[in-house]
Amino acid sequence: MQVKKILGAMVVLGLFFINATAQNNYHPKADKKLLKTIEQNFTDAAAQYKVLEKNLPADKFPKTYFPATGKYEFSNSGWWCSGFYPGTLLYLYQETKDTALYNEAMRILAVLKKEQFNTSTHDLGFMMYCSFGNANQIAPSPAYKEILLNSAKSLATRFNPAVGCIKSWDGKPNEYLVIIDNMMNLKLLFWATQASGDSSFYKIAVSHANTTMKNHFRADNSSYHVLNYNATTGAVQQKKTAQGFADESAWARGQAWGLYGYTETYRETKDKKYLDQANKIASFILNHPNFPADKIAYWDFNAPDIPDALRDASAAAIMASAFIELSGYVNKKTAKKYFATAEMILKNLSAEKYKAAAGTNGGFILQHGVGHMPNKTEIDVPLTYGDYYFVEAMLRYKNSTKK
Ligand code: GLY
Repeated sequence: MQVKKILGAMVVLGLFFINATAQNNYHPKADKKLLKTIEQNFTDAAAQYKVLEKNLPADKFPKTYFPATGKYEFSNSGWWCSGFYPGTLLYLYQETKDTALYNEAMRILAVLKKEQFNTSTHDLGFMMYCSFGNANQIAPSPAYKEILLNSAKSLATRFNPAVGCIKSWDGKPNEYLVIIDNMMNLKLLFWATQASGDSSFYKIAVSHANTTMKNHFRADNSSYHVLNYNATTGAVQQKKTAQGFADESAWARGQAWGLYGYTETYRETKDKKYLDQANKIASFILNHPNFPADKIAYWDFNAPDIPDALRDASAAAIMASAFIELSGYVNKKTAKKYFATAEMILKNLSAEKYKAAAGTNGGFILQHGVGHMPNKTEIDVPLTYGDYYFVEAMLRYKNSTKK
């Protein structure tokens, strides 16, 4: 009986792997013109980031820039976006081999390093994996490993087994707030299990992904932004928004985080239910009547002033990066659709409307992101994460079309 069970499991696993690879026979062809544009974008982005570097106070991190007033907004290392500047520099270094970019990344990583012990935020995946994770890919070192493992330990302190999720925001005593964005912090935990052999990180990540899959999504596969759980019973007390147009609307960046997060969770676990979830999110995005023909999402799919509503270049960049990866896991027909979407996003973000002219935009690469509309902050401005995922998507495009 036991042998039968094991054999059965082997067959299922075998079929699964055959399926996973058989579905993966899509070899996208590069659009030569776009590839040339991308090469130019890397050069231009490197020059832009030197403008940004010149204007950056020594202990600060870039958040945004207001073209109308020429003013920057910087942050301390504890802000959720602090990993994107070093992460972008390291991606650009990979392409340009410009050591000045690498040296600047090393300088700012030394400022960021102390956040490994920060237990007051759920954003340690963004902050530490996009930065130290990228540095460790380029030049693996025990020092990076220690920083990343400490960061994962700090993140794990925010997990509550009764809820099954990592706490995103510290709310009122009766609130346990979890946002869809938090799917993006799981990669750090998956990495930590691989690096240490300690499965507790992996288990937390999987629990978070499962609980989010169960509660965060609507029947149409769009996601709520914020869920408020009862910390003792794990019951859902409230479903709402913070950064979207309305509690029942589909905030564009939230949909992008979900798409990227479940694609990544599938990559890390190879559990098909996460791939299914990513495909469902993709289907919501691609079939939505308010998803524009140029594929640069409005800041909210239900923004009341569509077609005049602002676009969010950051959501578009995240979607492009996610769609390229997801196209590697699905059947050929679907892969073509996903890849074409990413290609169109990259073409449009590379055009004058979104890509800043040399020396402008405070040195940021992309224009026209929307940070927090309800707060009336960071509206129609460059955003550090928009740049990060744009550069990542271009790298993914280049690599996935390599012969
Ligand atoms: N994670 C916050 C945001 O996407 O604005």
